Amino acid sequence: MDDKKLIFSAIQPTGTFTLGNYIGAVRNWAPLQDQYNCIYCVADMHAITVKQEPAKLRQNTMAAYALLMACGLDPEKSILFIQSHVPTHALLNWVLCCNTQFGELSRMTQFKDKSQKHPDDVNAGLFTYPSLMAADILAYNADFVPVGVDQKQHLELARNIAQRFNQRYGDFFTQPEPYIIDVGAKVMSLQDPTKKMSKSDENPNACILILDDKDTIIRKFKRAVTDSEAEVCYREGKDGINNLMAIYSCVTGKDFAAIESEFAGKGYGDFKLAVGEAVADHLEPVRTEFDRIIADKAYLKQCYTDGAAKAFKYSQRIVSKVYHKVGFVDR
Ligand code: TYM
Repeated sequence: MDDKKLIFSAIQPTGTFTLGNYIGAVRNWAPLQDQYNCIYCVADMHAITVKQEPAKLRQNTMAAYALLMACGLDPEKSILFIQSHVPTHALLNWVLCCNTQFGELSRMTQFKDKSQKHPDDVNAGLFTYPSLMAADILAYNADFVPVGVDQKQHLELARNIAQRFNQRYGDFFTQPEPYIIDVGAKVMSLQDPTKKMSKSDENPNACILILDDKDTIIRKFKRAVTDSEAEVCYREGKDGINNLMAIYSCVTGKDFAAIESEFAGKGYGDFKLAVGEAVADHLEPVRTEFDRIIADKAYLKQCYTDGAAKAFKYSQRIVSKVYHKVGFVDR
């Protein structure tokens, strides 16, 4: 690796990516590949903090890996791997857990939300999840972490853990900076625009999956909840329209003023149809590319095996230094 800054990010393989995952995170990852050293992973270890069906998890993990490639991540340019293939993450996690406070983990809103959603399975992995996420990032001493707004709190905790470690054992970890886009960092549910779009939403119309076909995408946008006015403009209180405008802006590159004049005097019906068509057309090449890549299992295997070897080599150097710093006897 040369001396370019280092980017790290990851996504859980809990089903097809949503339009939120795509706009808020994944689609911003490919353009970073030329400017930075990039490391991206499919976070299957994070996924088992909620119950997963093993065969389905395996299938979703392969699909997520192929989807990342379909979204433009190039295993020749970036290190692209599956989290459970690289044991250094778990090895570092233990040290970081011992430098993370119970109170800090208790304050994580995602932990509170998920433990409310799955009261029968509030497991220790769900609780210590942010420490594993910090290990993912710190195992590479990443400079920037491109994520959606919902991961900001976890990232702040990762920074605190890094800082605490540095104070205790001497300066070592880089403080990772969040890298969050201005428009689209929080794509909202199409059925309740005060909530973020999430694949775990019970209402299938709330969420666009990036492999949905054109008709499905248009149908879901046509049913999107808006308001009782009839003016396409970005204004506080118009959560549904604001969300659709942000999505439309992200896939067309038009700013809000241009969108407002494009739809001046037109109704919400026209606007929703235009958003649906623009999103479907934008995602079409991703779908085609995904079908091509997922069919070639041998190539996929070669990519994720090489990716894991590179990630392990890189992170092992860092984790061995951490083990030495905390006082473990060198092997
Ligand atoms: P995950 O798998 O929930 O989401 C992956 C990425 O998608 C973003 N995202 C959204 N952005 C905008 N609008 C939305 N509605 C939306 N929903 C999701 C997320 O912010 C995220 O960037 N814990 C992480 C995965 C992870 C990770 C890491 C990320 C594991 N280790 C280390 C960064 C660094 C997660 O569950 O993301």
